[in-house]
Amino acid sequence: MTAFHTKHMRAVIPAAGFGTRLLPATKSMPKEMLPVLAKPVIQYVVEEAAAAGIEDILIVTGRNKRAIEDHFDEAPELEAFLAAKGQTSSVDALRSTTRLGRLFYVRQSQPKGLGHAVLQAAPITGDQPFAVLLGDDIIVGAKPATQQLLDVFRRKGRSVFCVQRVPEADVSKYGIVETEPLGDGLHRVVDIVEKPPRHEAKSNLATIGRYVFTPTLMPLLADTKPGLNGEIQLTDAMRELLRHEDVYCLEFEGVRHDVGNLEGWLEATLSLAAADATLAPRLQAILKAIGSPQVLAPGAGRRE
Ligand code: G1P
Repeated sequence: MTAFHTKHMRAVIPAAGFGTRLLPATKSMPKEMLPVLAKPVIQYVVEEAAAAGIEDILIVTGRNKRAIEDHFDEAPELEAFLAAKGQTSSVDALRSTTRLGRLFYVRQSQPKGLGHAVLQAAPITGDQPFAVLLGDDIIVGAKPATQQLLDVFRRKGRSVFCVQRVPEADVSKYGIVETEPLGDGLHRVVDIVEKPPRHEAKSNLATIGRYVFTPTLMPLLADTKPGLNGEIQLTDAMRELLRHEDVYCLEFEGVRHDVGNLEGWLEATLSLAAADATLAPRLQAILKAIGSPQVLAPGAGRRE
């Protein structure tokens, strides 16, 4: 049983990265603000945290990221303008962005890595457990991935994060775990290594950007020295955490789109459009018109 109160769970969303894989689109616009259909990527991530019942959400931003704060703030002039024209659905869409919880912002002033970004949240997370949601991943499924992790956390009272099997050729892009399987997709973590070369990887189970941590992690993160690429790696602090407590990982149910690169962004956009009753017929017509060999079936993006 957990000794922590999950109702005080806070979420940390690192959103300070440059987005170099999406240049030039991300030259002057935060990568987290790229739209997937009518919402920016980060809204999906904040919505996932809110859907898991998390009320306090801290976004770790950096220079050139002010559009993120504006997005989740009130826009009274725009709202009054739309209301005067009777565009109520636009007003609703606008308001929905301001009702996702209490948002806090802190800046990571230097690009010292994911671990360093998460460490900026320490004054907010204090001695409580916290969730981390990486802004590059959109996860679609019946139950939010963060909710799935919280369910495990409530049972085990220990840190748990999402994993997924990836092709052998891709293991060097992820934190890779070695585990003891416990059934139902849950594993106890034996070891974790950040982006191992393919021939050194102990498995093809890759860390995906959703985590719930006990407060034990933060002091370990504060002591973590720069690792791969000279950056303070979250994975290195997690490896140290294993020496103090049991840590679990979960093969979650849902489809993950890595929207931090062009192919993943395209996949997310098409999949979500195919799952949208309004857009699906139009998408089919477009694919047919451009001679796609395989027209998407309605709801094709709703794979689980
Ligand atoms: C980060 C983490 C890595 C994890 C990945 C998931 O890497 O460092 O352990 O597997 O996110 O997307 P990044 O993608 O930021 O290079």
